[in-house]
Amino acid sequence: MSDWRNAHRDKLVSAEQALKNVKSGNRVVIGHACGEPPTLVEALVARAPELRDVEIVHMVAMGPAKYAQPGMENSFRHNALFVGATTRKAVEEKRGDYTPCFFSEIPRLFKNKILPVDVVLMQVAPPDEQGYCSYGVSADYTMPAAECARLVIVQMNAQMPRTTGARIHLDAIHLIVEKDEPLIELKPPQIGDVECKIGENVASLIPDGATLQLGIGAIPDAVLLFLKEKKDLGIHSEMFSDGVVVLAEAGVITNRKKTLHPGKFMATFLMGTRKLYDFVDNNPDVELRSVDYINDPYVIGQHDNMISINSALQVDLMGQVNAEMIGSTQFSGIGGQVDFVRGASRSAGGKSIIAIPSTAAKGKISRIACEIDRGAAISTSRNDVHYVVTEYGTADLRGKSLRQRAEALIAIAHPDFRESLLAQAKEAKLL
Ligand code: COA
Repeated sequence: MSDWRNAHRDKLVSAEQALKNVKSGNRVVIGHACGEPPTLVEALVARAPELRDVEIVHMVAMGPAKYAQPGMENSFRHNALFVGATTRKAVEEKRGDYTPCFFSEIPRLFKNKILPVDVVLMQVAPPDEQGYCSYGVSADYTMPAAECARLVIVQMNAQMPRTTGARIHLDAIHLIVEKDEPLIELKPPQIGDVECKIGENVASLIPDGATLQLGIGAIPDAVLLFLKEKKDLGIHSEMFSDGVVVLAEAGVITNRKKTLHPGKFMATFLMGTRKLYDFVDNNPDVELRSVDYINDPYVIGQHDNMISINSALQVDLMGQVNAEMIGSTQFSGIGGQVDFVRGASRSAGGKSIIAIPSTAAKGKISRIACEIDRGAAISTSRNDVHYVVTEYGTADLRGKSLRQRAEALIAIAHPDFRESLLAQAKEAKLL
């Protein structure tokens, strides 16, 4: 038996034993999104009565996030790098915090000890013959956190797909909890008529041979429905989901024309169902790398015809994009939106697309607004924005004056709001 096999055996512990190593006041980073290690998180939460002021750093929390529930605030303080359904209330009620940061720059927070990491809790696939474990569905910030954490605790799960690229040797892991269980899944979203129309409009901007980045949700998935006739598309995306598998199996996504990493699906994390996880498992064409590489605008910009597709909550008449706040409430986060907007703008033939339904709240609110709501943040600046698409059409804002932008955006607003937007634009001296 080689050395790493002995070491593996020596590091095996129960979840309860492993989590005893977390001390009050520690900063604990939890593996991202569907890569979250449920058994380890559960064991951490079980220690709540003994712990005080443990900071939990996480981004898209796909698990129940019990550490962020009312009553937990003395034991755990949630530091959200992205807010989601299970953590939004904690941040809103000030039982947790939100830290703004481009996704591509999160590894630097850990590595430069701006946020020194005490413990990382993450999930890996079992080791290969050389003793390397794949990070599976989450390399993103999980890998950099593991590279600088004082203590690396892994849940080793045989159901974690083995993706290529990001891997950790058993020597770099301190404690191993073996527990096989289904991965957290993201079910495909409901796609309605509005999303379909937006999908069709966005698809018309995508040439054959383009490389795509797709955000999460109904709009990116709707875009994929309208790409069936395209040829030789490629993927260099923060994440991808089941919709990409469908197009790969149909021969639409081949990655053949990519000018960087040809032939490869490149991503930093994956979220979907078992269909996706089976597709990526031991697939030599799928490679995950940490987010400081995948989301680096200089890397993204090396792809010719790079198309980024993301959504937003509000766009004002100057083209400023709010993708993360409803008034002063932090609804989500910046994620990789600006990383990819900037990368696409560096790309030869690149386009960044912000695709939004024209209204929110069942048609009562126009997402195209004269001004971003008071208290809300600007996610993508007016200098970075390129295309804005709604179900009513496309506004190409690059190189357009403020007057031209206001006109183009009003033209793709919902018809019920165009007249009042026009009046507000005049009052704001945009027209
Ligand atoms: N004013 C008030 N409410 C608004 C609003 C506005 N301007 N815009 C949206 N809402 C409401 C919606 O009505 C909806 O509430 P409801 O379900 O009760 O009707 C809720 O907010 C969510 O809006 P929706 O647009 O459906 O959200 P989504 O799930 O499609 O996510 C973003 C959209 C913008 C939040 C999401 O894409 C995001 O977080 N983006 C930023 C990060 C990013 O782009 N990452 C890129 C790579 S993954």
